[in-house]
Amino acid sequence: MCGIVAAAARREVSEILLEGLRRLEYRGYDSAGMALIDNEHRLLLHKQLGKVSELERAQQLQPYYGCTGIAHTRWATHGEPSAANAHPHISGQRLALVHNGIIENHEVLRAELQSQGYDFASGTDSEVIAHLLHGFLQQGDGLVDAMRQTVRKLEGAYAVAAIDIHHPDQVIAARHGSPLVIGVGIGENFLASDQLALRQVTDRFVYLEEGDLALISPSELLVFNEQGEPVCRDQTPIDDVVESVELGAYDHYMLKEIYDQPRALAATFHACDNLLRDDSCFGDGAAAIFDRVNNVQIAACGTSYHAGMVARYWLEELAGIACEVEVASEFRYRKRVQHEGTLLLTISQSGETADTLAALRNAGEHEFVGTMVIANVDNSSLVRESDLVFLTRAGAEIGVASTKAFTTQLVALLMLTIALGRRRGMSPEKQQEVINALQRLPDFVEETLELDTNIQQLSEAFIPKHHALFLGRGIQYPIAMEGSLKLKEISYIHAEAYPAGELKHGPLALVDDDMPVVAVAPGDELLEKLKSNLEEVRSRGGELFVFADRAAGFSSEPRVKVLNMPHCPEVIKPIVYTVALQLLSYHVAVQKGTDVDKPRNLAKSVTVE
Ligand code: G6P
Repeated sequence: MCGIVAAAARREVSEILLEGLRRLEYRGYDSAGMALIDNEHRLLLHKQLGKVSELERAQQLQPYYGCTGIAHTRWATHGEPSAANAHPHISGQRLALVHNGIIENHEVLRAELQSQGYDFASGTDSEVIAHLLHGFLQQGDGLVDAMRQTVRKLEGAYAVAAIDIHHPDQVIAARHGSPLVIGVGIGENFLASDQLALRQVTDRFVYLEEGDLALISPSELLVFNEQGEPVCRDQTPIDDVVESVELGAYDHYMLKEIYDQPRALAATFHACDNLLRDDSCFGDGAAAIFDRVNNVQIAACGTSYHAGMVARYWLEELAGIACEVEVASEFRYRKRVQHEGTLLLTISQSGETADTLAALRNAGEHEFVGTMVIANVDNSSLVRESDLVFLTRAGAEIGVASTKAFTTQLVALLMLTIALGRRRGMSPEKQQEVINALQRLPDFVEETLELDTNIQQLSEAFIPKHHALFLGRGIQYPIAMEGSLKLKEISYIHAEAYPAGELKHGPLALVDDDMPVVAVAPGDELLEKLKSNLEEVRSRGGELFVFADRAAGFSSEPRVKVLNMPHCPEVIKPIVYTVALQLLSYHVAVQKGTDVDKPRNLAKSVTVE
């Protein structure tokens, strides 16, 4: 969370910084700021409460120009969202600093700094870093030494970048626990939390490693490792087509991303050439690791956790492999009994989620046969630190509520099921059946997208409601969970998901006319049981919204609205039904007038614990 962009160039950089922030806004958007050193070596600062657009407005009213600068978009952790708490933080009228992460010992450091005479202008943990750095610079240290001394005093996670008027063409940065990448230009260099911010200016990147310090100027790029030694980190060219982060004809990124799913799902499926024989799409050495896998332990957060929950059904039912799934924030701290032959599988759109990364890093302490990640962002921390990697081909996902990243994760997980199932007696016919279903998946998703207008009509009933219940059975239960998460994230309607069989054990008490009930009810073997549950809801005045296979025999009647879904192979139904639920949430949120792409209090990439 929080996005950092920095530039050291021979040209004016304010517009580059602002464009970088726009591209990083998914990381946080409660306040934003930018500091520049102008050609008279003055430090110029804009800080605004609210989105990056507020900062742009401030820059239009009072333009500041400079060739060296840092900028930040914030997701508040310590200190409420306000202009004072926005970054950059200034110290001694000479330096400005931006920070992503959490400084755990900030209270002690604050007290020390106050006793040395430093006044604090904010309630953030980050401001201590600015004053510490200032203190070391005042003692005569150069930028690199001063930053090294500063980070030695910090406990917690950080990516920081700072500029100092006494070193007007340089930016100093450090990373520990939060991502930071250098963008390499010609006669100019940049820094950012995510390469996406810098694709406007370069396609060559240096990914900083844990404990690295970096100093950039227009002509130089120096990296020092944790021991303070100068190191040469590889430059990674990113030569894929620059991904469109433009909205195009869509009103919201979320809608664009929902509609991008047929392409993204097909691209992800085609990442593996010959699933029936070859495991190389899961990374070098996949076959050797897969041969030893008896169990899969999945750790993930949010929507990615739901993908893991779906995968459990596939892995156990199709591949005959025991699978456990846990939210990474619990998994990382729990004392567990480890089974022999366990693969640790993390799932993460961003590849940077702090809890998921911690789950992977703790893996070293346990006996796993290997670690694997399913991620959407190449070169992210999870990708760099896992033995095996499968990259989903969702493309950049900007909307905070995950859509195409989730469904492409499911494709990856189904392909993994085949790779592992092949070793556990999954018949060639069954494997082929799943592959055939995956091949046809984009068409079924297209068909679901054609139901958009019908779904929009259904969504109207949710607008005045304060609660919603989502029901599913079996593999559709995690899909109900994902549907309810989507609704609460973007429409702020309180939504809960239950396995349909649990309805009478509690939630039925809540059912009334303020509680629409959504049932994910494809025509599978559980349908009949679900039908009797649904009757219980209806007879208590609840209104039902049933997403059903058109072959299932449901029809609309008073207080029951049925959306007839495409008749598709069982195994891909979780993916197809997800798309319909995404559209439902989207339309509810649009009609409620919420900020669909940037829902309040949330951030896309949670790089703090
Ligand atoms: C945040 C996002 C969610 C996402 C979760 C896990 O909470 O708002 O959309 O599912 O993080 O993120 P990851 O990048 O690890 O999938």
